[in-house]
Amino acid sequence: MRGGRSTVATRSSAKKRRPTRAVAKTANPSAAGTPAPVLVTIFDYVRFAAARLTRARVTVAHGTTDPVAEAAFLVGEAMHLHPDEVEPLAARRVPKAAGRRILGWIEQRIATRKPAAYLVNRMYMRGMAFYVDERVIVPRSFIGELLDSHFGGDDVLRLRDPATVTRVLDLCTGSGCLAILAARAFPNATVDAADLSADALTVAERNVQEHRLEDRIQLAQGDLFAAVSGKRYDLIISNPPYVDAQGMASLPHECLAEPRMAFDGGADGIDLVRRIIDGAKTHLASGGGLLCEVGRCKPAIEKAYPRADLLWLDTEESEGEVFWIDAATLADCAPARHPVGTA
Ligand SMILES: C[S@@+](CC[C@H](N)C(=O)[O-])C[C@H]1O[C@@H](n2cnc3c(N)ncnc32)[C@H](O)[C@@H]1O
Repeated sequence: MRGGRSTVATRSSAKKRRPTRAVAKTANPSAAGTPAPVLVTIFDYVRFAAARLTRARVTVAHGTTDPVAEAAFLVGEAMHLHPDEVEPLAARRVPKAAGRRILGWIEQRIATRKPAAYLVNRMYMRGMAFYVDERVIVPRSFIGELLDSHFGGDDVLRLRDPATVTRVLDLCTGSGCLAILAARAFPNATVDAADLSADALTVAERNVQEHRLEDRIQLAQGDLFAAVSGKRYDLIISNPPYVDAQGMASLPHECLAEPRMAFDGGADGIDLVRRIIDGAKTHLASGGGLLCEVGRCKPAIEKAYPRADLLWLDTEESEGEVFWIDAATLADCAPARHPVGTA
């Protein structure tokens, strides 16, 4: 691990926090209580919007991690700025029309509880913009960060030389965000992006076109590997549905606007993960590997595959929510045997 922003592969490392931006440090949510606040600059709007979101107790978990970041995202969208530009331009004046847009979005966000990304039809991941609407889950997978940290850069744990990866599968692609990030991370690769949902693939197609990657990303519809039968890959990435029955019964209001099939992982959350582990055996090339996000299902997976040698990867915002397994190790990965009558 090098520096505070690097990801690590451990089983028990301390959780790292994303550095807080200057805008966040100086924002004062309590100022929102002031009647008729004077809103002039980007800074003023971010401070006001963050205070409104905080007081309204919205759940912030869709690509931004706190009310200030979400407020900065919305202000940036109204000003046609990339999120990285918001803080350096905090002193810029907000034109009246943009100010009205910001205030409208904030009130809509609070009244409807829809994720901010759906209000503006955009979310950023690893600095790239993706079109989103209610046909796809809002992009927020940890795999985006891991593609940068463990397949490039200078992290101590480099899983593969990105130049040698030529065939990638993004299973359960949704908006296509991970397929597009994979095309960026692996410049010599073609990418298959598969999903069961025709609606999701329509959104993915739009993103592939907007990023001009039609010649490198192929979309496919089907139930997991049925969409790519007979094909083998150097790398399979997947952020499948993995919410268990208990989690499905208590999804935050914001998540109810997202497609249910993007979350539902069955009773213990790993119905699809089991099928991915088993199916990957016949879809990985020798020397290949599977990178799979499973949320909080690590205990369920360890119970289902007690002898599997999975490498659990951490990111800046997660611990043990993504595993890596290479093709050779996967070949020996058998599910637990249950005594008759206990399965
Ligand atoms: C958690 S979302 C991930 C979307 C995207 N990869 C991302 O990270 O934003 C899971 C996706 O799996 C898709 N899906 C659900 N069941 C599936 C199945 N049986 N076969 C293929 N895709 C499926 C859903 O339509 C949804 O787009």
